[in-house]
Amino acid sequence: KEVITELRTGYHFQPPKHWINDPNGPMYYKGLYHLFYQYNPKGAVWGNIIWAHSVSTDLIHWVALQPAIYPTKPFDVNGCWSGSATLLPNGVPVIMYTGIDPHKNQVQNVAYPANLSDPFLREWVKPEYNPIITPDHGINASAFRDPTTAWYGPDGHWRLVVGTKENMRGIAVLYRSRDFKKWVKARHSLHAGLTGMWECPDFFPVAVAGGSRHHQSGVDTAELHDRVVAEEVKYVLKVSLELTRYDYYTVGTYDHDKERYTPDPAFPDNDYGLRYDYGDFYASKSFFDPAKKRRVLWGWANESDTVTDDRHKGWAGIQAIPRKIFLSRSGRQLIQWPVEEVKSLRSKHVNVSNKAVKGGEYFEVTGFKSVQSDVETAFTIRNLDKAEKFDPAWRTDAQGLCKKFNSHVKGGVGPFGLWLLASDDLEERTAVFFRVFKTNDTNYVVLMCNDPTRSSYESQIYRPTFAGFVNVDIAKTKKIALRTLIDHSVVESFGAGGKTCILTRVYPRKAIGDDAHLFVFNNGESDIKVTNLHAWEMKTPTMNKLLEQ
Ligand code: FRU
Repeated sequence: KEVITELRTGYHFQPPKHWINDPNGPMYYKGLYHLFYQYNPKGAVWGNIIWAHSVSTDLIHWVALQPAIYPTKPFDVNGCWSGSATLLPNGVPVIMYTGIDPHKNQVQNVAYPANLSDPFLREWVKPEYNPIITPDHGINASAFRDPTTAWYGPDGHWRLVVGTKENMRGIAVLYRSRDFKKWVKARHSLHAGLTGMWECPDFFPVAVAGGSRHHQSGVDTAELHDRVVAEEVKYVLKVSLELTRYDYYTVGTYDHDKERYTPDPAFPDNDYGLRYDYGDFYASKSFFDPAKKRRVLWGWANESDTVTDDRHKGWAGIQAIPRKIFLSRSGRQLIQWPVEEVKSLRSKHVNVSNKAVKGGEYFEVTGFKSVQSDVETAFTIRNLDKAEKFDPAWRTDAQGLCKKFNSHVKGGVGPFGLWLLASDDLEERTAVFFRVFKTNDTNYVVLMCNDPTRSSYESQIYRPTFAGFVNVDIAKTKKIALRTLIDHSVVESFGAGGKTCILTRVYPRKAIGDDAHLFVFNNGESDIKVTNLHAWEMKTPTMNKLLEQ
């Protein structure tokens, strides 16, 4: 079979063909989840951007509708770029998006459903009074985009932010409105940083542990005019940095009166904040799901093969599996976990338990097809004495550390983890693993890595190592869990129950289809144990079948 068709994903969101990028305006309306996304209807590279539209009852099976928003007016004639949906208190959803006007200026527009009784929300109307926000007062008109979901203040004003830059300053510009029609720029920005352009800002509340609601439940952005609610939440500000092409967030407080967001002192851990995902995951956006009272995060994963390959495949880009996100008990980070509905795809199951893996050894997990699978592994570490010494200078560079100590570099405690999408001779393999270092006799640092340097023998492919630290007390628990969603060319991993996430795209040439194998390896001196490994083949859901019109 042709290699390239084997690389197409089975259960990650993607249209039948062509280019996709950012998720846009995700929402739940009348029993359906809606996902819009940046789409090129004419090819597998970026361009001719419109809002494609799909609906689902479970975030897993998708039906494609006709495009929702596409250039029709001067205020969006050169493109319909990213934006968000807001549900107004009367139940009306409204979309705010960036239009590219005849002068190539970026302006913000609104669109309303043509027919509110259509749960599919097929048709959208753009009022003549658009654009509603223009780049005046010295704003850079070619860097002014991606409006957020609006939130309602105790003073009866709606607010939203738009991403921009001023030289090296990335800025979340704040706007205010009473009627969603006339928007006024606030005197201060919501927040800013010396990081270059802020694309796709996302600003939302999260419940704190110990409040009246469970800390894992989502908070509706619209609820926040209620001051009681406001006291039991923190806020998250996420920005997508054009310079690094990664998504960063901080957790902090928001003062409704001063209209300012302030990151908590624990943030940022560097100039940017924490990463949602330490791999290929960009332009993400969250929404509150009232059906399951949770906050769900969508993020785009671009290809990392060549443009020639993309044209040949006829498609490029996928959305990561939607993740439920919530604040950890400590309040120091978000926890992300694939939405529970993904389990409905699990079919054939295999299990390995209580299996010791000595230093330098590995074994294959057999009896199922791993090319499209969900693998949950719990590792136990018997002894931490052999952990290598950690140099504090490495703290800010997990990725560099993983490059230096990749999966082939023998360690003390680890590297241990999975070799997946592996050919039977192991020539091709992607490693997802942990490595434990010690800072002194009682403190340890856990690194989680994705090493795709041997994922494909095709040498043209970009194969960077990706890594993040995992905030766990390994000395106490002596345990660490890994969940990996494997989907042909996607490897999406969740370390320690969703504390550290890494999504990568890989393009094996041999380890495809039934020739893709799964192994557990331990390349450290110390023995480890697989307490439990559960792996499931994953069924293929309905993926963007066009709904008969
Ligand atoms: C992020 C982004 C957005 C923009 C859109 C255009 O990937 O560049 O800033 O609105 O994509 O497709």
